[in-house]
Amino acid sequence: MAERVVLGICGSLRQGSYNAALLRLAERVRPQIRVVGADLAGRLPLFNPDVEADEAVWPDAVREFREHASRADGVLIATPEYAHGPAGVTKNAIDWLVGAGGLVGKPTVLMSASPGQAGGMRAHTPLMPTLTLLGAVLVDCVVVSRAGARTDASGEYVDPAVVERMGLAMGEFADALSYADRRSTGLAGR
Ligand SMILES: Cc1cc2nc3c(=O)[nH]c(=O)nc-3n(C[C@H](O)[C@H](O)[C@H](O)COP(=O)(O)O)c2cc1C
Repeated sequence: MAERVVLGICGSLRQGSYNAALLRLAERVRPQIRVVGADLAGRLPLFNPDVEADEAVWPDAVREFREHASRADGVLIATPEYAHGPAGVTKNAIDWLVGAGGLVGKPTVLMSASPGQAGGMRAHTPLMPTLTLLGAVLVDCVVVSRAGARTDASGEYVDPAVVERMGLAMGEFADALSYADRRSTGLAGR
């Protein structure tokens, strides 16, 4: 598999974020995948249609984020669950993509991690109709519970079950990226 550049959206701004670590794990288990833009989610201003309407006043972060999104082969979203919903940082980043043509046909994996038992899974459900509306192709959802017990002192996932689960997800993601290529060249199904 050749290198695949994918858009990362990390909904946590926290140092030592368990969700940011999920994006690093995705790259670790599948070195051909390069995640770009993940840190931009936290630099984006709050979405404002007035700003979006005038490209001349776009902050650099908006321009870069939208460029990464349009060039990306796929999308990896790692979001905390706050108050039984996705982090506002995550939704805000996605809102900046609505007017950019969305994520049409882009394979997408949703991920969450938390120190609790539910692993942030309740952050996923409200994002699903949004991603569908944007044309994303949802490939898998990865949920990591008790994240503190599965990471080492430097905050990287070391639990073999988490590494294996991410390997499975990235395998499906890689297949979906290849399928998306074949579909765009009319070779799907052959
Ligand atoms: C304001 C707030 C609300 C939270 N709400 C939830 C929640 O509803 N469900 C949950 O499992 N964890 C909740 N948490 C815990 C987060 O999942 C936990 O802080 C997680 O580590 C955040 O992700 P991060 O490590 O990537 O920063 C909440 C944390 C904060 C600060």
